[in-house]
Amino acid sequence: MEILRWDKRFSVGNEEIDLQHKMLFNIANYLTTGSGKGYERNEMKEIIAELVAYTDYHFRFEENLLKEHPSIESHRKIHADFVEKVLFFEKEFAQGKEEVNGELFSFLVQWIRDHILVTDIEFFKN
Ligand SMILES: [Fe+2]
Repeated sequence: MEILRWDKRFSVGNEEIDLQHKMLFNIANYLTTGSGKGYERNEMKEIIAELVAYTDYHFRFEENLLKEHPSIESHRKIHADFVEKVLFFEKEFAQGKEEVNGELFSFLVQWIRDHILVTDIEFFKN
């Protein structure tokens, strides 16, 4: 299973945002490796809930920093779509569809990586 590794390509040039992105890497990786280690269902559920809570905090923080950016609305929309998708996975998992895990992990890894490298870096340029 692929995990996220931080390197300087991911830096958006804002120390606090970089720290928050590292935290997102940690939660996503914890979820991915936790499932491989056979974590209990409840534990997985808690980590998913933590992911939901942390992304909520992080997206608000980031959107607030970028609030004067002319394209902030499109960025907000991208964040909202992500949240909606994670909440969907969370609901599926709660309903006992554990097979959503694999799908959730690959979605997370790919989304977080691409979002930082493409969207966040672009938005923090100016
Ligand atoms: Fe973002």
